[in-house]
Amino acid sequence: MIIDWPALRAAATAAAQRAYAPYSGLRVGAAGLAADRQVVTGCNVENSSYGLTLCAECGLVSALHASGAGAARAPGAGAEALRAVAVVAGDGQPLLPCGRCRQLLLEAGGPDLLVDTAEGPVELKVLLPAAFTGADLAARRETR
Ligand code: THU
Ligand code: ZN
Repeated sequence: MIIDWPALRAAATAAAQRAYAPYSGLRVGAAGLAADRQVVTGCNVENSSYGLTLCAECGLVSALHASGAGAARAPGAGAEALRAVAVVAGDGQPLLPCGRCRQLLLEAGGPDLLVDTAEGPVELKVLLPAAFTGADLAARRETR
């Protein structure tokens, strides 16, 4: 799949400009390329109760599903809905996703999801090695 990284980064930068980040002052935008070639975006949304803050990637994953691009499928079944992601700060430069968002992106894009970094695209499995997945859940749950 051909990925237009400058366009994806530009979409993330536009989303960052719409962020609501009055507490941290760090605006974040995320843009993702779906398997059906739709581009979905998200921005961070903070709250006076700090812990309720939504990262930009949360909005992106919600938009992926809401747009229909994240069509329901069995977890870990392959052919992931999300193929590439750019996350930037308000200055338009790449920002690495936090740990929670790496886990969130894994569910939507799998270990081969490409993530934009200052050094170029890297696979999510490099940023989140030895991840907990649905396979662990299925293998270890006690109620069947
Ligand atoms: N933030 C994101 O939007 N995504 C990340 O993965 C890292 C952090 C936001 C959350 C908060 O509004 C601000 O950056 C400072 O942590
Ligand atoms: Zn995050």
